[in-house]
Order: sequence, then C-alpha cells, then structure tokens
Amino acid sequence: MADVLLTRDGRPAAALWPASGFVHLNHGSYGRVPLAAVDHQQRLRQEMEHGTARFMARAPERVRRSREEIAPFLGVDAQLLALVPNASAGVSTALRSMPLPAGSEVVVTDHAYGAVRMGVDRAAREAGAAVKVATVPLDADAETAADAIWSVVTERTAMIVLDQITSPTARLLPVGEVCARARARGIVTVVDGAHAPLLLTDPVRAAGADVWVGNLHKFASTPRGTAALVAHEGVADRLRPLIDSWGAPHPYPHRFDQQGSDDYTAWLTAPMALHHLEDELGWDRIRAHATSMAERAVARVSEALADTYDDDPAVQVGMPVGPIRLAGLPAAVAVRPDELRARFIAAGFEATFTEHDGRLFWRVSPHAYTTEADLDELIERGLALLSRASTAVGG
Ligand SMILES: Cc1ncc(COP(=O)(O)O)c(C=O)c1O
Repeated sequence: MADVLLTRDGRPAAALWPASGFVHLNHGSYGRVPLAAVDHQQRLRQEMEHGTARFMARAPERVRRSREEIAPFLGVDAQLLALVPNASAGVSTALRSMPLPAGSEVVVTDHAYGAVRMGVDRAAREAGAAVKVATVPLDADAETAADAIWSVVTERTAMIVLDQITSPTARLLPVGEVCARARARGIVTVVDGAHAPLLLTDPVRAAGADVWVGNLHKFASTPRGTAALVAHEGVADRLRPLIDSWGAPHPYPHRFDQQGSDDYTAWLTAPMALHHLEDELGWDRIRAHATSMAERAVARVSEALADTYDDDPAVQVGMPVGPIRLAGLPAAVAVRPDELRARFIAAGFEATFTEHDGRLFWRVSPHAYTTEADLDELIERGLALLSRASTAVGG
C-alpha cells in the first residue's frame, strides 16, 4: 500500500479536502467534508437565499431524490431509508416511536456512546422501564460478546440498543447474531451504526436490525447533519420523525422528508459527496488506505510508547475494525481524555482519546488524505505531548 493515496488522475487525495492546518487523525469524530461538497452546499444555500419559498416548496421532492441516490451506497431500498440529522436523533426517533412498556427492560452494553445512553436512560425512566447493561470484555470475540449481551436478556426485555462500531473502544459488536436471536424472541433491536456507513461494506444487511442508524457525516464525509435511518419492513409504519411537520400524514419514509423550516442543503449535498469520492478515489481504495494507515499508526505509536514507558500499553481488541483503531496509553498518562484532546488541538493535532474500564486509549481514525508523513509528525511531536501530560500529573 502506497504511503500517499492518489486520485484517479494522479493528485494526492489530500488535494480534495480544504487545508485544515492540522495533522488530522480523527476523521471518526466529526468527519471532514471534501472541497467540492463544501462548494456544492454553498451553491445550494445561495439558491435557497435567492428564492426561499420556491426552494422550500421543492425541498421534500429533492430530499426524496437524495434518499434514492444514497440508498445504493448503503445497499438498502430507498423506501426503507429516512434521513435524520445525526445518529443521536436516529436512536431518539426509535425510542420515541416504539415506547418501552412499563416494567420492561432495555439492554445496552458498557461500550455504548455516552449521549445515546443518556437518551436510553431517559426513555426508560419516563416509561418505568429498567436499563440492563451487558459487560463486554474488550478482547471478546464475536461469540463471547454475543453471549455477554444475551446474558442480561430476560423475559422482560423489550428492546436491545447496540453499537455496531463502539465509540470508546473502536470494536465491532456481533450485532447480526444478537438481532437475529432477538427477532426470534419478539425483542425490538436498534443498531447505532454511527461510524459504519462506507467504513463497512454492507452494514445494514449485516446488522439485520429493526432500526439501524448511521452517520453519513463521519467516514462517508458528507456535510454534517446527515444520517440515515433504515427501518425493517416490520416496524417502518411505527416510525415517526421527532419533528411533526407537513409530512406527518404521509407514510414512512416520506413523512421524514419535511422537517419544518430547516436547512436541507446537507441532505441535498450528500449524494454528490458520496459520488465525488467514489469517482475521484473509489470507496474500496479509501477503505484499504485508511485501514493500512490505521494499522501503521497503532503499530508505530505502540512501539514508541513501549520504548518510552515501563508498562506495556499494548491492547487486545476483539473484533477490531479496519480504519478505526485503538492504541493503549500507559498508566503514567493520567490525564482526562478531553484535556488530552485539548492539548493536542493546541499543538495542531486533530486527535481523540477515550476511556473505558479504567484505561485510557488513543483512537486513531485516518482517511484517504492521511500520509506516512502525518504519522511521522504524530510520533515526533504527539508522543512528546503525552510525556508532558504524564510529567505534569506526576509533578
Ligand atoms: C457509536 C456512536 N453513536 C452515536 C454517536 C453520535 O453521533 P451524532 O453526534 O452525529 O449524533 C457517535 C459519535 O461519535 C458514536 O460514535
């Protein structure tokens, strides 16, 4: 695998993105939108300002066409795909549309995304239901993880909410197996595939969930505010958008196409962004390059840390994911993840750190534009920031 991914006409992939001034190794948090998509969205905004009423009148039809173009990228039927602003909204939509019965239980894991977990907790509290948390060891393989999740399922379980790719630990969960078992028992499944679109090749089919949600503004690099919600035929009729608007009387998914006076330009730009990166680079090549860079980053960081610190920070992740990986940090780096992130940003790095089960991790999520030179900088300057963080705490 080459150090620099080239466009089909021979330019470095980085030329497709606006220069950020950062060494960017954290595509997984907020994505990065290619220049051509930024321009396209800007043109749509101008069109909106130069004829707002006409733009708004045509928006639902254009949103429908967007859905139809997005659907093949996810391998789904456009009639089962709705657009929502983000993965959090998608999970909230499922929780609001399919309320938990009083006295029932909802299952999550200890790797759940914090903000989504807050939504589950509130829905359960308001319904008089209980939240059951399955503990999945970081190194658990698919079978062990599925057993761990299933071990907290009881005859009161009404819903299971699972991350397809976990946020703090960058691992897969065996969502397909759990969803299949749950369906046989009449338990509703919601898969939070926030990171999955285009990062995995067939995430919706692999999950087989009643409701699957995934952000297009992460790996897929569309403008922010664009997420897909895919319903299983059996529950589609029950799903209502969080915002009731003029589409309310329409069947699923058309009732999601109108969300009041909103800025629909991100949804209208999403298909163009997906096609653009396919045409310029190809999604298979992007995935392969990002995977190779993620593996190199973790290997180089782990090796350098092992040379610098006494304890071996190596981490064993069961079901790791190609382009989003974890490097363990030594116990000496006893600084909160958000404080570490702030220090890295101040030094010109887009990097993120997570915490799980009392351990601190560096989560690396490169993309098409990442080069070996970025990794050199990470090792040369990034590691120094870590040792400063540990000295500061020690002293
Ligand atoms: C697993 C998971 N779920 C949900 C989210 C939230 O995404 P959003 O802020 O777009 O709703 C994230 C964000 O990183 C995530 O990793």
